[in-house]
Amino acid sequence: MEKETIYILAIESSCDDTSAAVLSNKKVLSNITATQQIHEEYGGVVPELASRAHQQNIVPVVHQALNKANIDKKLISAIAFTRGPGLMGSLLVGTSFAKSLALGLNVPLIEVNHMQAHILAHFIEEQNDGSPEFPFLAMTISGGHTQIVLVKDYFDMEILGQTLDDAVGEAFDKSAKILGLPYPGGPLIDKYAKAGNPDAFPFPKPKVDELNFSFSGLKTSILYFIQRETAENPNFIDENLNDICASIQKTIVGILMDKLKKAVKQTGIKQIAIGGGVSANSEIRSALKAGEAKWGWKTYIPKFEYCTDNAAMIGIVGHLKYKQRVFTDQSISAKARYILDAQN
Ligand code: KG4
Ligand code: ZN
Repeated sequence: MEKETIYILAIESSCDDTSAAVLSNKKVLSNITATQQIHEEYGGVVPELASRAHQQNIVPVVHQALNKANIDKKLISAIAFTRGPGLMGSLLVGTSFAKSLALGLNVPLIEVNHMQAHILAHFIEEQNDGSPEFPFLAMTISGGHTQIVLVKDYFDMEILGQTLDDAVGEAFDKSAKILGLPYPGGPLIDKYAKAGNPDAFPFPKPKVDELNFSFSGLKTSILYFIQRETAENPNFIDENLNDICASIQKTIVGILMDKLKKAVKQTGIKQIAIGGGVSANSEIRSALKAGEAKWGWKTYIPKFEYCTDNAAMIGIVGHLKYKQRVFTDQSISAKARYILDAQN
């Protein structure tokens, strides 16, 4: 039993989602996210537009989070916010807002690393699979990152491997763009793949050392393939969309699974947790669950709303830091390149 009830108000604004959440200890009372539609027509996130939209959204989103949680601002124990990594203009909005609010309410301020939060989201109460025990392997797969991390403790993490170029979410989104699908294309590839044949069009997997990843070569081979086929048949994409999506998805998920198997072999750790937007992908979810039966893995897949960017995951880190009394002062600034296993 925890003696004290800790209420954390958390803010996330690292990319194109403005999110605010209220947590009572490890329980999420509210988790409100305003997703910015404006980027769809540009085929990717436009940083300048993102920071403007954050500025418009942040006050109403925080209000809504407080209303839904049904608690008075005066009960808030601390304000947690995403310091980085992310887009500088976007981070600055959340950082400045969090600092002002902490000052106004006279409560501590807690800075959070976004990538750590994707991993520690597994400690939110009421996750489908419960919470992993230390040590475990975490694979963070999002639009900005692709990492395999050895998690020894809440704040003791070591990056074992990462992408050398594009993130896996970019591989999905850029492939989707080649097919003429809107941004973000990852969920659409997932959707069309369900009705397609994953063996219709084999794409080569990159050869990358150790536990690192590379996705830019795959994107190029998909581009050349589509150019070749549409030169012969202008309707090639329309006629084969499901099969193309299923083939792309099979290749990408295969790359992720190969590296995970290697990481398990290397560390002897069979507890695996995933995080980041791409963990919403249905194929990676079923491949991981299949790994439980095949190789004796225990896998942890976050609830859908805690996979993509959200403030609840920032809130759980806020809670864990609050318990250790790890606070930050008002001189802090946002950090666009914030390495996960850096001390500060
Ligand atoms: O974690 P996230 O919300 O933002 C970043 O920090 O990047 O991840 C967004 C990424 C996008 O690239 C999006 O296409 C991808 O997650 N994504 C998916 C799926 N849902 C979201 N990719 C594949 N399949 C999905 N179902
Ligand atoms: Zn993210």
